[in-house]
Amino acid sequence: MNDQTTFRALVVREENGSFQRAVEEHRIADLPPGDVLIRVHFSSLNYKDALSASGNKGVTKKYPHTPGIDAAGVVAASSVPQFSAGDEVLCMCYDLGMNTPGGFGEYIRVPAAWVLAKPEPLSLLETMQIGTAGFTAAQCVDRLLACGLRPEQGPVLVTGATGGVGSLACALLAKLGFAVTAVTGKESEHDFLRQLGCTAVLNRQQAIGRASAALLRERWAGVADTVGGEILAGAVKAAQYNGIVVCCGNAASGELPLTVYPFILRGISLVGIDSAECPLARRKEVWEKLAGSWRPLLHDALAALSVRINLSQLSQTVDEMLAGRTRGRIVVDLTGEK
Ligand SMILES: NC(=O)c1ccc[n+]([C@@H]2O[C@H](COP(=O)([O-])OP(=O)(O)OC[C@H]3O[C@@H](n4cnc5c(N)ncnc54)[C@H](OP(=O)(O)O)[C@@H]3O)[C@@H](O)[C@H]2O)c1
Repeated sequence: MNDQTTFRALVVREENGSFQRAVEEHRIADLPPGDVLIRVHFSSLNYKDALSASGNKGVTKKYPHTPGIDAAGVVAASSVPQFSAGDEVLCMCYDLGMNTPGGFGEYIRVPAAWVLAKPEPLSLLETMQIGTAGFTAAQCVDRLLACGLRPEQGPVLVTGATGGVGSLACALLAKLGFAVTAVTGKESEHDFLRQLGCTAVLNRQQAIGRASAALLRERWAGVADTVGGEILAGAVKAAQYNGIVVCCGNAASGELPLTVYPFILRGISLVGIDSAECPLARRKEVWEKLAGSWRPLLHDALAALSVRINLSQLSQTVDEMLAGRTRGRIVVDLTGEK
């Protein structure tokens, strides 16, 4: 392997205002400078990748571009002492896959500050079955627990429940003993959600409730929201006194049509979750849980909620995700390529 070695990557190109995707050959020399060159074995498809792969300039400013905010693989070369060739590592978020060529290529080159040693005993595949979405679900659950939420306080609502973040949040909360109510737009996936341990399933309209009401009947001791908009507003309005709501996504909307009444009359807390710029020390803490006491809880669920695709299947899967037709986690397997 040298700078002229070629590798395959999904490349998104802007042509006359429209965006085309194709698997192309690149040279290692084409990658940006960086401390650590990684041979990517697995990546995963997150909502943000689907946006980047379809020309969303809020995520990716310049094209041509290779998306992929997640990558797990083996160090091929390192100019820093923390990492050596052969180390198994993962790299998630920061600028990876946004404006830095990402995990939808067989190689990435990144700053050492973005790289984490693979948390043992997870396999590279498991780290990408979890990926940014699962890590974000873990952050949501960890924050609910840190705010004092306990199963005996009542049911927990998870929105966007069949999505990557949502499905992992459902599975983890159910295994931790919470009664989980899932919100989904997919009637065909109620059984899937029950298999993950959810005890009740609502459609989106039921979760929104009466949109004009400032408050709704108290139902949820906690909420993990991945969609924003009217569904998040409905969840906050129906949270129990002193309820905790964590919010991490905007799959439905970036708006939040609410009054202050849930906060000042019921003491509701609304807590934001970010994984993109999450500091390395916090990442290590959350991965330690995912690799430690939470690993056995998620073992069966990860198999049930994840599928594996290759680079050639990725473009079509991006379209399915944007159309809201995917479920769970999608792992991109780059081991079979050159
Ligand atoms: N804050 C962070 O650092 C962070 C990290 C990761 C992800 N996120 C965000 O979290 C969200 C979920 O990410 P993901 O990777 O899990 O995406 P995903 O796999 O595409 O899941 C999103 C889910 O949201 C629901 N949904 C989609 N469109 C909707 C609509 N118009 N109205 C209501 N629900 C809708 C669907 O679930 P149902 O069909 O089951 O309703 C869908 O499966 C995204 O907004 C993403 O950007 C944020």
